[in-house]
Parts: sequence; structure tokens; C-alpha cells
Amino acid sequence: MPHLLHLDSSADPRSSSSRAVTAAFVRGWQERGEAFTVTSRDLQADPPPHLPDAALHWAPRLRTADETVDPADELRQQGYLDELLAADVLLVGAPMYNWSLPSTLKAWLDHVHVLGTTVPFGEYEARPLAGRTAVVVSSRGASYDSGGEQASWDHTVPPLELVLGQSFGMQVSVITLQLTLADRVPAMADLRGQAAAEADAARSYAEELAAGIAA
Ligand SMILES: Cc1cc2nc3c(=O)[nH]c(=O)nc-3n(C[C@H](O)[C@H](O)[C@H](O)COP(=O)(O)O)c2cc1C
Repeated sequence: MPHLLHLDSSADPRSSSSRAVTAAFVRGWQERGEAFTVTSRDLQADPPPHLPDAALHWAPRLRTADETVDPADELRQQGYLDELLAADVLLVGAPMYNWSLPSTLKAWLDHVHVLGTTVPFGEYEARPLAGRTAVVVSSRGASYDSGGEQASWDHTVPPLELVLGQSFGMQVSVITLQLTLADRVPAMADLRGQAAAEADAARSYAEELAAGIAA
């Protein structure tokens, strides 16, 4: 059965743009039929702790003799890993906070990016997530278009592409919606039309992608 793991990390319970787009994706996915199942995890409502022990970056068999970890921490990490490994498609709502990722999402990444488990340690080890699809929904208040002078300020999409794409071997698609602060910031008033169009386009694209994505 094709299964989707849906993560949100926006701290805005009122008008989150990324949540609207991930919800559109989930709708499109579920409309494909009952076999298209979903697990949703809200990293803001139920945040992972900061990685409690660096030893958790290593699979148990790769830890040194003195790297014993708290069983409760290991159990929590295993829960995140099991959810991820059970997913054919991963959907990540990833707002930009201070040019970076929300700390909740970063903490989740720190729990699941594990050498010898999701990332191969030896040359011939398999990557269990290789070839699966990841969809990143990147919302940001301003604009960081490639070619623009602020393009290099985006520290949200590049680390996700590195972890999910480069390390895990997933096929990463990115849905970007920019200028989300145009309604609120007076200096951005003339960008409101563009912002609304970007939000509409992102929602439609998410539904379209969900309807057609290979699972
Ligand atoms: C703590 C915080 C930091 C933010 N930092 C930035 C930033 O560095 N650059 C930017 O363009 N927007 C920034 N924003 C605006 C958000 O990226 C924007 O509101 C986005 O739509 C948030 O996603 P959401 O609508 O899903 O909550 C920030 C918002 C918050 C709450």
C-alpha cells in the first residue's frame, strides 16, 4: 500500500502557508483511493527534543564501547526511523525561520540521519530510502530567487536536499512559496498580488504532484 509520511513544522496555527500546501498535497494523495494511506506528524505540536546524545548519530552496531544511550532516547529515535522507513513518499512542510529551518524540523533530521541505518557507513551498504520520493514545501516571507542577490541566504532547502537527496538518495521535489509576509509588511504591499499568485500556484502544484507521483 502506498504510504505517505506528512510532516509539518510551522509554528503558526492560524494562517500557515506551508500547512495549507501540505494539506493540499495530502488531499491529492488521499483522493487516489483508500490504499493511499497517510501518517501525519506535527513537529510543532509534538516536538522532538534536541538530539540528546551524539551516539544516536550512529547505528547501535557502530557505537563505541562507552557510547551507551538512554533506552528512552533510543526508543524515541526508533519511532521516528520506523515512521520514515515505512513511507514510500515523504512530505515536509519547511518554513524559513531566520534563514534556516525550524528547530523542530532540524531536531527531527538529527534523529533520522543515522550512519549505518539511513546512511550507509561502508562502501557496499544499501541506502534503504534510495529512490523514494520526498516533497519539500518551503515557505518564506521574502524572496530568494536564484540569480537574485539574496539567493545564497536560503539555508532551508540546501540542507534538506543534502540530507534527503545526497545522503538518503531520495528524489527531492521542492515547492516554494515566497513573499508570504506581503499582506503584513507595508513595504511589501505592491507584492501582494504576486504573493497570492505564488500561494495559489503552490497549492495547485501540490495537488497535481500528489495525484501523479509514483508511489
Ligand atoms: C521566527 C521566524 C523567523 C522568520 N525568519 C524569516 C527569514 O529569515 N526570512 C524570511 O523570508 N522570512 C522569515 N520569516 C517569515 C516566514 O518564513 C513566513 O511567515 C513563512 O510563511 C512561514 O511559514 P508558514 O506560513 O507555514 O508558517 C520568519 C518567521 C518567523 C516566525
